[in-house]
Order: sequence, then structure tokens, then C-alpha cells
Amino acid sequence: MDMSWISITNFSLFLLLASYAEAQHVIFDIRKYGASPNRDMTQALKNAWKDACASTNAAKILIPTGTYKLGQVDLRGPCKAPIEVQVDGIILAPANPDKLDGNAQWVKFGYINFFTLSGGGTFDGQGQTAWKHNDCGRNKNCKKLSMNFGFGFLNNSIVRDITSKDSKNFHVNVLGCNNVTFANFSINAPATSPNTDGIHIGRSSEINIIDSFIGTGDDCISLGDGSRNINVLRVTCGPGHGISVGSLGKFTYEEPVEGFTVKNCTFRNTDNGVRIKTWPGAPGTITMSDLHYEDIIMVNVSNPILIEQDYCPYNQCSKETPSKIKISKVTFKNIKGTSATPDGVKLICSSSVPCEDAKLSGIDLTFNGAPTTAKCANVKPTSHPTIFKGGVLVIVHCSTDCNNKPMRKFPSYIALSKTPLYVLGEVYSTGLLRFTPPPKPKRPRYKVNKNKYCWFHKDYRHNTDECITLKDEIEDLI
Ligand SMILES: *[C@@H]1O[C@H](CO)[C@@H](O)[C@H](O)[C@H]1NC(C)=O
Ligand SMILES: *[C@@H]1O[C@H](CO)[C@@H](O)[C@H](O)[C@H]1NC(C)=O
Ligand SMILES: *[C@@H]1O[C@H](CO)[C@@H](O)[C@H](O)[C@H]1NC(C)=O
Ligand SMILES: *[C@@H]1O[C@H](CO)[C@@H](O)[C@H](O)[C@H]1NC(C)=O
Ligand SMILES: *[C@@H]1O[C@H](CO)[C@@H](O)[C@H](O)[C@H]1NC(C)=O
Repeated sequence: MDMSWISITNFSLFLLLASYAEAQHVIFDIRKYGASPNRDMTQALKNAWKDACASTNAAKILIPTGTYKLGQVDLRGPCKAPIEVQVDGIILAPANPDKLDGNAQWVKFGYINFFTLSGGGTFDGQGQTAWKHNDCGRNKNCKKLSMNFGFGFLNNSIVRDITSKDSKNFHVNVLGCNNVTFANFSINAPATSPNTDGIHIGRSSEINIIDSFIGTGDDCISLGDGSRNINVLRVTCGPGHGISVGSLGKFTYEEPVEGFTVKNCTFRNTDNGVRIKTWPGAPGTITMSDLHYEDIIMVNVSNPILIEQDYCPYNQCSKETPSKIKISKVTFKNIKGTSATPDGVKLICSSSVPCEDAKLSGIDLTFNGAPTTAKCANVKPTSHPTIFKGGVLVIVHCSTDCNNKPMRKFPSYIALSKTPLYVLGEVYSTGLLRFTPPPKPKRPRYKVNKNKYCWFHKDYRHNTDECITLKDEIEDLI
């Protein structure tokens, strides 16, 4: 039989099936409900939603090209069949924040199974006026501003090709969702716009953010409590404050964060790259585990890799009591590029619950052409050798804390009947201590106290009995 005939037939069959599938969608054109460009379409959209949601065949609401005004809407399911909203136009929020209830989002979609938001359209929150009045950093009772989108209690849903612009507050809030994918999703707001986080996720699982572009004034993506199996793939972040887990710990009742992967992402001129933050002096005791950051490019990022368990902006808390949130199974792998500060890696874990099972490998970050430094507290990352530029082999040393003070691994030490100096003398010959000398002190030699010699470091600085690194080694042994 003629082969070309078969393939042509198959192709026609494919076309036939495709148009059949398309025909299966019942179209609800917003114009049929009285919407027209440059006018308010709130009521038209509400009416179209009511009909589309009641359709027993897959329904599609069409918002064609053109600019439309839209007030606050809360579009809910459950719907009888899958439902799609295709937005090709530009939709404008009221510029005046008083026209929206700040406790709710501007556009809400909720309680729907198989929901799709698609099209090349833009939701413009017109936040410029509102940003000027935002004093929430200083004022706890500040006026709440509406976020552009609220996606609540959605299952098996997709948001694609859409742009969220100039939200008054966060762009997107994802709550109580399961299996939702954001693809080719764009977020735009100026670097100076306050609190305009890109996508905030809480109490949700299986959320994917792929092939997306986020440039805004706060975190590009942030994870709240109860986030499980969240995947971020091929996302560009910048400007913005990076991709954050937290801040968490502020409240007693929070759910754990489990399973977060950030892969093949680029950060450009952001304040942070990948960040995990928890509050000290706060009641929260949840755990955060399985957080993986891999194949990431940093371009002029101020804090490329950051764990901050002493996160306390505007001195809103007491740093006296450490965070009670336990972080474990964190990997930072193959992270390359440039830092805007000398600190490439800062892992400041809690002294009451040190980080566990932290791994760093393939970290190649430079500041002004030189390798960046790593500072750590209450964590001993196991690192595969890390090759910095220039071929220098550096195992990320976490021997100092953020103030360049020697770092202690244990919050307290078992009381010894003999001094550390005596123990050192006893164990030296046994080879029990496996210790690579810490790097030379950064402070100038003339400032070193010549009266204090540490046998362990084989250097002047402090006496052997005061040596934190030795105490840590002994604690490890007993
Ligand atoms: C979404 O899934 C959850 C868990 O399976 C279920 O309880 C809920 O009813 C679903 N929601 C909708 C709108 O289908
Ligand atoms: C997740 O949702 C998508 C989009 O509706 C669907 O195609 C896919 O089958 C769902 N995945 C699972 C595991 O249910
Ligand atoms: C991504 O979305 C834009 C519209 O925002 C569209 O023009 C473009 O074709 C989409 N890209 C892909 C790969 O679908
Ligand atoms: C991630 O990026 C690398 C290098 O650019 C590429 O080889 C790889 O295929 C990408 N992986 C995914 C899952 O996109
Ligand atoms: C790098 O980042 C710093 C601090 O954010 C900024 O001042 C500087 O302009 C940036 N440099 C470039 C080349 O973008």
C-alpha cells in the first residue's frame, strides 16, 4: 500500500479529532453578555460564569482582545464540567484601592476541578496609586490592599500564557489547591513596588511553576505553611527578592513544609537568590524538609544562597530565643554565577534546632571576580568538593558565624572532669581527632594576642581551653 496515503489519512483523522474536541467546548463569549471594550464587564463576566459553570459539556468563557474594566469578582464552582477562561484582552482593576475590599483578592477563582485560565491576556492591578499609601512595613494596622489573583481550593487546574501586572499587593495567592500548574506565566511590577510578591503558596500540594517570568518588588515566589511537593522549573526571577520558603514560625498553628524543588532557574539582580527564613522569638515548631535547589544561575544577586533562622525585619521580634523550626534535607547543587556581595553562602541555622543533612555541591559563585565566602551557624554542611573559578578546590568551610566569631556546633557542652587541653593531650596520639586546621584568622596579625596559644590550632589567638572548635570535636567524640 502507498505509505503516503496512510500518513495523510492519519493526519486528517487527527484534524478531525482536534476539531471535534474543540467543538466539545461550549463557548460563552463575554460580548454576548453585554461586555464591550473600554467598559465595565463585571456583571457580564458574572453572568457568563453562571452559565458556563452550569454547562454539562466543557465550557470556555472568551474574553476577546480589547481593554475591559473589572471590579471585584469571586467566581466559584463546583462546576458541572471542566471550565476554561480564555483571556486575550487587557483587564483593568479599579486604580482607587477604596473600590476593592482589601481582605479579598481582586479576581478570585475557587472550588473548581479542572479549571483553566489561558490566553495571552493581562490582568492589570493598576497598583501605582496604592503603593504610595502602603505603610505595612511600619504599621501593623495598615489598610489591606487587594492582591490581583486568589486561586483557592482548585484541583487539577492550569494557568497559562497569562500576565499579572502591577498588583496592589501580592500578585497571586494559592491556597488549598492540589495539582495546579502555572506555565508561561508572567508577572510584572517595578522593583520599588512594596509587598508585590509574585506567587505565594500555602496549604497546597503538587503546585508546578514552569517556564515563567517573574519580575516584581518582593519575593518572586514564596512558600507559606503546609506547602507540599512544590516544583519550580525554568523560572526567571528578577527584579525581586528571590524565591523564599517562609517566613515561618510566627504562629503556633502552622503545617510543615515538605518537598520543594527549584531547578533550572535564573536570578537576575535580585536581593536574594534561594532563601529559607524563620522567625526567632516565635512559637512555631513545624519542620521543613526535602528542599532542593539545583542547576541555578545567579546574575549579580545580593545573597545567592541564604538560610536565615534569625529573620526579624523592623525588629519585630526578640532574637534572644532562637527559632524552633527544624530544617532538614536541604541540598544546594550546581549553583553558579555572580554575587553582588562577598557572601555567597550564608546558612544561619537555629541554635536550638540546628539544620540537619544540609548538602552543598558545585557552588561556583564569584564577587568581583573572586570566590565568595561561606558563613554558617549551627549547621555542618556535608559538601562534595566545590570548585571555585581559577581551579581552587574549596570545601565550603563554615568555621565562622556572621560576625566572624568562631562557630559552635553544639548549644551546650557536656561538663568534663578534665580541661579540653588535658583531653587534647590524651587523644592526640590516638588519632581520634580528625581535624583539618581552620583557615587563618582574618584579622591582621598584629591584633593577635601573643600571650594566648592554642595547641589545637597551632596558632596564637586564644587559649586551648577556650577553643570552641576543640570543644565541638570533643563533644562529637563523647
Ligand atoms: C479537590 O480535592 C479534594 C481532595 O481530594 C476534595 O476534597 C475536594 O472536594 C476537591 N474539590 C473540588 C472542587 O473538586
Ligand atoms: C493534574 O491536572 C492536569 C490538568 O487538569 C491533568 O491533566 C493531570 O492528569 C492531573 N494530574 C493528576 C496526577 O491527577
Ligand atoms: C507564552 O505566552 C505569550 C503571551 O503571554 C505568548 O505570546 C507565547 O506564544 C507563549 N509561549 C508559548 C511557548 O506558549
Ligand atoms: C536544565 O538546564 C540544563 C543546562 O542548561 C539542560 O541541559 C537541561 O536539559 C535542563 N533541564 C531541564 C529539566 O530543563
Ligand atoms: C548589581 O546589584 C547591585 C545591588 O543590587 C546594584 O547596585 C548594581 O547596579 C547591579 N549591577 C548591575 C551591573 O546590574
